[in-house]
Amino acid sequence: MSKKIFSGVQPTGNLHLGNYIGAIKNFVSLQNDPDNYCIYCVVDLHAITLKQNAKDLKKNIRETAAAFIASGLDYKKSIIFNQSLVSAHSEGSWILGCIARMGWLNRMTQFKEKAGKDKEKASIGLYIYPILMAADILLYDATHVPVGEDQKQHLELTRDIAEKFNLDFNSPDFFVTPEPLIQKNFSRIMSLKDGTKKMSKSDPSEFSRINLNDSSDQILNKIKKAKTDAEPLPDNENGLSNRPEAANLLGIYSSLSDQNLSNTINEFSGKNFSEFKKKLASLIVDRISPISFEINKLLNDQLFIDKVLKDGAEKADAIASKKIENLKKIVGF
Ligand code: AMP
Ligand code: TRP
Repeated sequence: MSKKIFSGVQPTGNLHLGNYIGAIKNFVSLQNDPDNYCIYCVVDLHAITLKQNAKDLKKNIRETAAAFIASGLDYKKSIIFNQSLVSAHSEGSWILGCIARMGWLNRMTQFKEKAGKDKEKASIGLYIYPILMAADILLYDATHVPVGEDQKQHLELTRDIAEKFNLDFNSPDFFVTPEPLIQKNFSRIMSLKDGTKKMSKSDPSEFSRINLNDSSDQILNKIKKAKTDAEPLPDNENGLSNRPEAANLLGIYSSLSDQNLSNTINEFSGKNFSEFKKKLASLIVDRISPISFEINKLLNDQLFIDKVLKDGAEKADAIASKKIENLKKIVGF
């Protein structure tokens, strides 16, 4: 069955190995299935739910687009664009905000995490962020949405909004209820400094993550310093319980070598970390260096990146504005 794929990534800083393994690697394989129609969005409207510096935002939009292309997304096969160029996202978000219920939003764990202790001081945008995400997806009739585990709750909310709209307005087929596509394995890559915390752009320590534009030396150094424990590597999966750092590093190795965890465990069983880390570092360098090289090359040609985004936005706008037109009719405008 052909699938219509939509996904988005926020331009809020360097993309890292977690984004690559949890999301972008998957975007590329979905794109390369000729049955799929894929739309990938740099979600800059989402980025401003937390304070951004205007210059950095512009730079990050281009960097995220460059990382998409350098990782293998092809603007001739997929639509690649940034959200703020297509006004239908904001417009659709308003209408869907009148469908979503406060109670639904109050359950969102990402808001609770990002708003921190002082919720009163969080922006309204941060609170209604999942409604904008629902608009992103529903405007394109996406059937499948590849995301990391942390976005599953937002996808459920999107489905609730779609179903309530269809029911309230007696138009059972208007919005498509999308399915999340979450990888079973390695959907959460953890920090290199603490195997119980997600690898994240917002972690203050550079040593917690590998950025897609890190040099080989930076990668080698970060893996060398990555936290481990004192035991040799186990000979079965049960031996990984209570060893989050070992589990994470073996997971990264498995994902980048496209093999399952048990094969990786067999390969390194009984070995010590120093030996495993050498292999891991060289695998990451092999996979990430060509991407890093390409990102830096693309960033020297900003006109090209801007043109890819603008051309993509025109194609996206043609789809989304038609959906908005029909949405407005149904609502009674
Ligand atoms: P973000 O950078 O938060 O916009 O995330 C972009 C995509 O990367 C989303 O699909 C996330 O679920 C995914 N992602 C972010 N961090 C990680 C991580 N540490 N492990 C796996 N996936 C991640
Ligand atoms: N909320 C997603 C994240 O932080 C980004 C996002 C925005 C998104 N709109 C989307 C993902 C639509 C998938 C589909 O990762």
